[in-house]
Amino acid sequence: MYSIRSILEYLEGIRNQFPILKTTVGKYPLIYFDNGATSQKPQVVIDAIAHYYTHENANIHRGVHHLSQLATEKYEWSREIIRKFLNAQHSHEIIFTSGTTGGINLVASSFGKLLSAGDEILISEMEHHSNIVPWQMMCESHNLTLKYFKLTETGELDLTEIDSLINPKTKLVAITHVSNALGTINPIEKMIEKAHSVGAKVLVDAAQSLQHFKVDVQKLDCDFLVFSGHKIFGPTGTGVLYGKEAILNTMPPYQGGGDMIKTVSMQKTVYNELPHKFEAGTPNISGGICLGVAVDWLSKLDLLKLEKHESDLLVYATNRIKEIEGVKIYGEAENKCSILSFLIDDLHPYDVGTLLNQQGVAVRTGHHCTQPVMDFFKIPGTIRASFAFYNTKAEVDFFIDALKRAVNMLR
Ligand code: ALA
Repeated sequence: MYSIRSILEYLEGIRNQFPILKTTVGKYPLIYFDNGATSQKPQVVIDAIAHYYTHENANIHRGVHHLSQLATEKYEWSREIIRKFLNAQHSHEIIFTSGTTGGINLVASSFGKLLSAGDEILISEMEHHSNIVPWQMMCESHNLTLKYFKLTETGELDLTEIDSLINPKTKLVAITHVSNALGTINPIEKMIEKAHSVGAKVLVDAAQSLQHFKVDVQKLDCDFLVFSGHKIFGPTGTGVLYGKEAILNTMPPYQGGGDMIKTVSMQKTVYNELPHKFEAGTPNISGGICLGVAVDWLSKLDLLKLEKHESDLLVYATNRIKEIEGVKIYGEAENKCSILSFLIDDLHPYDVGTLLNQQGVAVRTGHHCTQPVMDFFKIPGTIRASFAFYNTKAEVDFFIDALKRAVNMLR
């Protein structure tokens, strides 16, 4: 058992590793509650970026010289760190991408080419636009049918029609693990089991889950999983597509170019093996290495302790926000994490967000790239506070006071 004091000291020790959290906005200390959009970076990641360009910069997989070998080793070290983090079976199942959007577009474009007219892809009404639009594009160009799970009033997925939605025509189910707009944690284990029973594959959008709790791809048995580096304390422009080796091997390359080939003649190209087949061109080398640094740092933390802290923070913030008259919370799933989306009466989210910003509080306002969710609730958008483990109860208290002041000014 840990004492409360030792937990607080542990959390403070982690928070102190994020220099940006000491920023002030005007006369107010920054309260950063926009972690769903991007997380802040610990010093170890910031240092690694400078270290790479100071001591290691070279192109990878191409040179016999010292720097090229060093950069290649670091890049492949990062792949292995990420493999361990996800508990993937092989490091070549880890494909570096530019982010979640990049990963989904890769699967839509490549896996989609294996499908035939009339095949079905299943998504949900809760998805981020990045897990809707690529499938709509693929369905349109390849004559596929796009179906979706509907939302419920509590912001969960309506699974009552799962038996007809997942049927022998279903070839892929692409579902978010955690909703970026509502915080709902979806029962993806159940969906994976059901999808596999009809021979369909499953892509898990983990953009909002890995930074909050541990995910094991072998235990889940998902076929694909995508995430963004910048949301799990790594650099922007980085991300990963995990895919099972056997499935990735059946898929055609996404883009053509250097590194993804074994041989090229003017008549024919022989493609490279995994993971290079899906990594054409010079990648974001520093980003990939520093994503490994971030994941390595994250893996060494006491994730269960941090998960408990975040969950306490969400419960605390949810209870405190109810002190404000006229507040309506969007996303009331029993199983949810780290996201508090709300509106207050008919106050416009942008007005509330602007007045919060004037008091140093950073939240996101708007549709959060989930217009179908907003359409379902018949609202233009919400105010969203999204937490990370470096946030504190004292920050929540300040946020609630700032919100009360904002509401008083607007009413
Ligand atoms: N998808 C990110 C968010 O939810 C940008 O804010």
